[in-house]
Parts: sequence; structure tokens; C-alpha cells
Amino acid sequence: MSPTSMGPAEIGLIGLGTMGANLALNIAEKGFRIAVYNRTAAKTVAFHENAGPLADNIVPCETLEALVDALAPPRAVILMVPAGSAVDQQIAALRPLLGDDDMIVDAGNANFHDTNRRAADAETAGVPYLGIGVSGGEEGARHGPSIMGGGRPEAWGRVAHILEAIAAKYRGTPCATLMGKAGAGHFVKTVHNGIEYADMQMIAEVYGILRDGMGLAPDRIGEIFARWNEGPLQSYLIEIAGTVSQATDGKTGKPVLDIILDRAGQKGTGRWTAIEAQHLAAPATVIEAAVAARNLSSRLEERVRGEGVFGASPQALEPGEMDVDRLEGALIAGKIVCYAQGFGLLTAASDAFGWALPLPDIARVWREGCIIRSTMLNDMAEALAEDSGTNLMFAPFFATLLRDNQQALRTVVASAATNGLPTPALAAALAYFDIMRTGRSTANMIQAQRDFFGAHTFERVDEPGAHNGPWGSGS
Ligand SMILES: NC(=O)c1ccc[n+]([C@@H]2O[C@H](COP(=O)([O-])OP(=O)(O)OC[C@H]3O[C@@H](n4cnc5c(N)ncnc54)[C@H](OP(=O)(O)O)[C@@H]3O)[C@@H](O)[C@H]2O)c1
Repeated sequence: MSPTSMGPAEIGLIGLGTMGANLALNIAEKGFRIAVYNRTAAKTVAFHENAGPLADNIVPCETLEALVDALAPPRAVILMVPAGSAVDQQIAALRPLLGDDDMIVDAGNANFHDTNRRAADAETAGVPYLGIGVSGGEEGARHGPSIMGGGRPEAWGRVAHILEAIAAKYRGTPCATLMGKAGAGHFVKTVHNGIEYADMQMIAEVYGILRDGMGLAPDRIGEIFARWNEGPLQSYLIEIAGTVSQATDGKTGKPVLDIILDRAGQKGTGRWTAIEAQHLAAPATVIEAAVAARNLSSRLEERVRGEGVFGASPQALEPGEMDVDRLEGALIAGKIVCYAQGFGLLTAASDAFGWALPLPDIARVWREGCIIRSTMLNDMAEALAEDSGTNLMFAPFFATLLRDNQQALRTVVASAATNGLPTPALAAALAYFDIMRTGRSTANMIQAQRDFFGAHTFERVDEPGAHNGPWGSGS
């Protein structure tokens, strides 16, 4: 192969795995000439050979030097390799081959702290750097992902036309936005993934009630999800919940769901969201519950042992105790609380890191292309555009939806608890809702105890200042 004989490429890409290969095809399809390199050269050759008519727009490169030579300066090279040390290794190998105007764009799922560090290194070296979050999985990468950028506006401006061309479109508007400097884009992507965990967990909890509490078969459950996908819950995740519920295993003829082991993995972004929520004191309890639930799901042997020790919980609900409309209402309420927490976390991060995150734009880029895309995100974008400083639960549209559905959430969580059906994420949503509607909480008891054992002082309801109680030498 001879890259130079094909003319200069407008953009480069390193890492032809699932995401990189599909993103490269998407870029080529939109008419941009792209140079590609993969650590294992055979994959580069095979990728080019299998690219069909798009191969004309793809310059396969067997070495990093060839990749650099194939690009028109000032160069831009996308990295699509696993987050962590692979990104650092790739930057270390590539950067010496690049000029000062040439830019590296990390499009993997980096931890935003790493992106902050790499962006700071790039600033010190006087070279441009972008960290972009790309959501939508394989299909999104190929036909239109949601893209969340982080870096300097001038760096974003250099590749924005390509990113906007390949991004998903919501009614013609590209789902690609610069969120702020340095790690802002990867932080937004991380919170997106955290919300994804929570959305999926709440759907799984409702599936559990339909399956174990109401005894419904997978295909019937699939019909229910399909119906919900016509209403306020319309979303990609509800849609695929319906699709997977109705799928049949080719080997056994059984419903696919029944032959899948009940053990869910994770790659870390949900955990990072929960950790940052704790660091920033911006509780994202629904996401935290979802992350914990995945971890508990993987303790299969321990769960089986627990069933032996304590016996399985009763599970089956009384006939008429639950109906599917109530479950739909619970999911609606849980989803609103989850997103209120997610946007609350984004607000806290924006303040803490000086990012000025554009909250309505975040809701907008999530409307298409990404895994959490849903109709409700359009309403969220509108609510945040009206008042981005408010808790989303208090926005008039969502306050009404919560008033209408909070009783359903309450009943579902209560029935599930009574019958031993675990609903940790829905229960966390309900607890948050109740805490955030309680004007007089019980933290006065905590303050009294803290002052009793540690003289930490407390505030009084009737006068300003720090006070001690009548229980120690300070009283
Ligand atoms: N999969 C998804 O749905 C998804 C969605 C959004 C974001 N992401 C993120 O996108 C990134 C890529 O994910 P993926 O699913 O495409 O991964 P993947 O299929 O495992 O591909 C990884 C690619 O990176 C290369 N690579 C691995 N280690 C490397 C190293 N140390 N130096 C250079 N190249 C290396 C591999 O090259 P070889 O062929 O030589 O092994 C391969 O081409 C990750 O950060 C991931 O978290 C994934």
C-alpha cells in the first residue's frame, strides 16, 4: 500500500477496534479522506480490503510515520484505543512525530482526570489537544454517534466540521458540542454512562417485578416494553428491552433472556460517576445504586448461597396487587429523579472545575445517537434552557410528571419490598424524592450527636452563629 499515492488525508485515526473501525467508515462515508493505523498491521490491511467503495477515501498505514506522512498539516489524529495506559503509550509514540500545530484527539472513554492531565501536558508543550466522549456503541460510531467535546474552542473548531458531519442529527441539528475545556467532554460522557447504568438498572428492576412478581413470560414482557415505548418512556433502552425480551435462542428455542447468566459486567464509567458524585457532594444515589447492583449481580455464588441460607423471598405478588400502568409510572418517576441527580452532578462539576457546562446543550446532544437517547431529553433540554440552575425535579413540566407518578413509584417500591423483590435504584429514587420534599429533615439529631461527642457545634433555628448543647464543658 502506498498512502502518498492516494493524496493527503484530512484526518487520521489510530485503533481499528470496534469503535475505531466504525468511526473511520463513518468519516470516510461523509466524504473526508482518512488515514488509519492499527497496532496490529494485519487489521489495517483487512479493514481497508473490506471497506468496499469507501476504501477510496481510506489511506491504510502500517507505521505511525506513514500515518503522519499521509496527513495534510496541520494534522489531527483521533485515538480510539482502550482508556488508560494505551492512550499514554500512543501519545508518547505519536507526539514526537508531530509538529507543534498538529493535534491529538482522544475519542475513547478516558477518565476526565487523565484528560485534564494530558491537556495540561499539551498546554505546557504548546500543542493542541482534544478529549471527546463518543456515545452510541458500534452502531452509533458507524452511522451517527453523540459527541461531547473537551478542549480549547480553537482546537474544537479545527475538527468541528468533521465531527458534526459524522454525528447523529436530531431534527437536522448535529449531536456534537464542545462542553468546555480539558476533561469537560469526557466528564459529560462519564455522567452519560452513569445515567445509562441507572436507566438500565431501573428497567431491569421492573422486568424483575413483571417476571417474578407477576409471573409474565418474556414475550409478554416484551409487548409491555414495546407499548411503553409509545409513551413518555420512549427511548432506545426501553425499545431494546422490548426487542431482547422477545428474542429466541437459536440453540435451545428458549427465550434468549432465560439463557443469559444474571451477572452484569462494567468497564468503569459508572463507577467513576459514583466516585465523582461523592467527591463533589452531589449525590447521584440512583446511579450509585445501579453501580452497586451490577457489582452484586456478579457475586453469583454468594447469592446462591444466600438463597440456601435464608430461602428465596416470597416474590409472587397477590393477584391485582400490581398493574403495568403503575410500573410505567414508577419508571417515569425514577427516570426523572435519576436525570435530576445527573444534571445536579454536572452542575456541581461545572462550578468546581470552572467549566461553565452548557446544560441544555448536554440534554440536546443526548437526544440522538447515544445509548440514553429518549423523548424525555427534549423536554429536559427545554426545561434546562428556561432555568439551568434549578433541580430538574422542580421544573414545571417535570414537577407535574412527578406529582402524577410519585404514588406509583411509592407503591411499586413498597410492594417489591414486601415481597422480597430487590429494587435498589427505584428505592433510591424514591428516597431522594422524599428527602428533597422534606423541609424539616432529621439532620438536627445528627448535629446534636456530633456536638455531643465532638463539640462540632450546631446552628440554631432561632439565632445565627455556632452553638454547643447543654451536655459538655462547653455548654
Ligand atoms: N465498544 C463500545 O461500545 C464503546 C462505546 C463508546 C466508547 N468506547 C471506547 O472506545 C475506545 C475503544 O473501544 P473499542 O470497543 O473500539 O475497543 P476494542 O474493540 O477493544 O479495540 C481496541 C483497539 O485499540 C488497539 N489497542 C489496544 N491496546 C493498544 C495499545 N496499548 N496501543 C495501541 N493500540 C492499542 C487495538 O489494537 P490491536 O488490534 O493491535 O489489538 C484495537 O484496535 C475505548 O476507550 C472504549 O471505552 C467504546
